[in-house]
Amino acid sequence: MVDSIQKEIESRKTFAIISHPDAGKTTITEQLLLFGGAIRSAGTVKGKKSGKFATSDWMEIEKQRGISVTSSVMQFDFDHYRINILDTPGHQDFSEDTYRTLMAVDSAVMVIDSAKGIEPQTMKLFKVCRMRGIPIFTFINKLDRPGRDPMDLISELEEVLEIGAYPMNWPIGMGKELVGNVDRYNHRIEQYRYEDEADRFIPLTDKNELLGDHAVKESTYFDQAMEEINLLDEAGNEFDQEAIAKGELTPVFFGSALANFGVENFLSTFVDFAPSPQPRKTEEGNLVNPTDEKFSGFIFKIQANMNKAHRDRIAFVRICSGSFEKGMNVYLTRTGKSIKLNNSTQFMADSQEIVSHAVSGDIIGLYDTGNYQIGDTITMGDKNLHFESMPQFTPELFMRVSAKNVMKQKHFHKGVEQLVQEGAIQLYKSWHAGDYMLGAVGQLQFEVFEHRMNNEYNSEIIMEPMGKKMARWIKPEDADEKLASNRNMLVRDRYDNPVFLFENEFALRWFTDKNPDVELFELI
Ligand code: G4P
Repeated sequence: MVDSIQKEIESRKTFAIISHPDAGKTTITEQLLLFGGAIRSAGTVKGKKSGKFATSDWMEIEKQRGISVTSSVMQFDFDHYRINILDTPGHQDFSEDTYRTLMAVDSAVMVIDSAKGIEPQTMKLFKVCRMRGIPIFTFINKLDRPGRDPMDLISELEEVLEIGAYPMNWPIGMGKELVGNVDRYNHRIEQYRYEDEADRFIPLTDKNELLGDHAVKESTYFDQAMEEINLLDEAGNEFDQEAIAKGELTPVFFGSALANFGVENFLSTFVDFAPSPQPRKTEEGNLVNPTDEKFSGFIFKIQANMNKAHRDRIAFVRICSGSFEKGMNVYLTRTGKSIKLNNSTQFMADSQEIVSHAVSGDIIGLYDTGNYQIGDTITMGDKNLHFESMPQFTPELFMRVSAKNVMKQKHFHKGVEQLVQEGAIQLYKSWHAGDYMLGAVGQLQFEVFEHRMNNEYNSEIIMEPMGKKMARWIKPEDADEKLASNRNMLVRDRYDNPVFLFENEFALRWFTDKNPDVELFELI
């Protein structure tokens, strides 16, 4: 590989930003973009967040999705690095989407509200990162407000998430009493309020001593913070870059996104330790290295109708090896089709731009006329290359769905097909009649589905709740309708694999007792 391309690849830092809704993900993203010069004023990304709407807020769904394009993947340059931020929906009903996004990154930044600590959604996402060995960086936000004791937050992080934590900085006071952060990594204090830039950082000695007279010393929290730092030095985790890379230790940063305190410090330290593009696994268990000569990538997200006027669809590709050049021919290995990549785009903070060159680690968008599916591999090399398949969650909620107007079946089928391809919802069919059923992880997915069918495909639908079910896959040879009863139902998934939907835990146990030879499988 040419040296210059190798350098380009090394300069990439591609990460997902994740949080429980309201922890401050949007605010911090905006600050990061400001540092990178990608936007000029705060407020640009605001309101674009996905997943922060009330259940019945149809118009919001529409509005947010319409503009969430530019905020779902953003690129900016900082300190010789090219940074790709991938936004994720905070709402748990869309965790499948978040999971797929995590497949496309090399690290994750988790934003936590200092007053709330670990919230349920954070816990789930953290565990996903741990499972996949993705390095996690933690930003404990809203220091400008009264929050929980930092020691408490750190131990909660370690206990609940079963991960080591290494505080990179430590707050001196909080809320109205916030004076600054002790920056352990750079041996200095970052002051919260300062007259001019020269006063922002006050150096500490190697032993964390503050020489000379400084106003921060007057804070009642100063001595306490210094004592806690000593405690962390003696009894806390050691800074271990390898453990960070394996996702076993999370560097923790304290700050306030809203007050723009600690964010720049976070960013400049993050780029030092966040991994550059990592190898990606194939279905066959091989590794594709980012510096491999031939271009390859996979599709992790499809977003439709981003611009309503054009009814377009964009397939988001994570480049895994080589470099992309506009107009190149690639193979879509699922179909064996050759496709010319002419119409591709890259995402800046508030705009999309035509991209003519991109390398491993970058995310590009391909205008899609129906060629792509989530999980597809495209490559210039081996026609049999298939990147690891996208994880699917086992849905828990089911609905029967049909078109209200039988004359509009075409719209209905097109809508269902495209929304399923996008991964917005899962499709199942009854074993013989082939009636459509939708499976979802969260209720909101149904609501978005109905809204979009109506608005984008002009298809009014009838949805009949089937309630909560436990879905279990079986081997094709075990698919026998005689095994179905009024407590379980045999259906097909969209790939025609047989699945049993059980009423409840009891029905599932009853089935396994009666049919010990039928193996049942669960997705994640
Ligand atoms: P999200 O994307 O994770 O859902 O969170 P978002 O950034 O939208 O922040 C949620 C709320 O928390 C917002 O207030 C935001 O202004 C506030 N916030 C974010 N970071 C900080 C911080 O460091 N300190 C304080 N005090 N507040 C913070 P909001 O009133 O819900 O929204 P808005 O009216 O400000 O847009």
